[in-house]
Amino acid sequence: MSKKLPLILSGSLAGLAILISSLSAADAPAPAASTSTPAPAPAAASAPAAPAASATPAASTGPKADLTKLVAASDKKGLTFDKDIEPMLKASCVKCHGGATPKSGLDLSTKDGALKGGRGGKDIIAGHGDQSNVLLFASDAVAKTEMPPLRNRTATPPIPALTKDQLADLRAWIDQGAN
Ligand code: HEC
Repeated sequence: MSKKLPLILSGSLAGLAILISSLSAADAPAPAASTSTPAPAPAAASAPAAPAASATPAASTGPKADLTKLVAASDKKGLTFDKDIEPMLKASCVKCHGGATPKSGLDLSTKDGALKGGRGGKDIIAGHGDQSNVLLFASDAVAKTEMPPLRNRTATPPIPALTKDQLADLRAWIDQGAN
């Protein structure tokens, strides 16, 4: 027994060594010889620059939202739509989400309209900023549904994105019940 063990061990070690060397031979970067593999596959696949114009049908985002893009709620208390939220929406959203035919049926010019939602359903879930499209879209947490749309931020006149402070207040307002 005690004599056999080293033998078995060294035997399996030898096997292992062979295995490793064959593996690393297979892994080896294959110099000039093999023409069969066109080298840089991964780099090409992972970087499709800007354009990619697929118009994903908006709203009801769920798992597509990148929650790391959200700012923390501000610690302000007693936020109200009229006092704290209406002014920022007026400056950044109401040009499209107001008037007779608001985009996607979402009227952000009044609290009732904002709470009612749009074509995609409710866009403010009271108590849950992180589930509310109004906050998610304005935080650029959903690719291709950034609000205001990216091109409008650089148009003339530009429609400004909400600032981090505004987003923090918007989140706090929704988290506190959207009153
Ligand atoms: C320049 C016009 C424009 C501005 C400004 C704008 N939006 Fe939009 N918004 C759109 C359009 C267009 C859609 C429909 C997008 C689609 O269907 O792909 C939309 C859709 C939405 C939706 C989905 C509505 C639903 O229920 O279907 C939300 C939420 C939204 N916007 C929030 C905002 C917020 C919040 C702001 C301001 C921070 C804002 N938008 C500013 C044009 C605008």
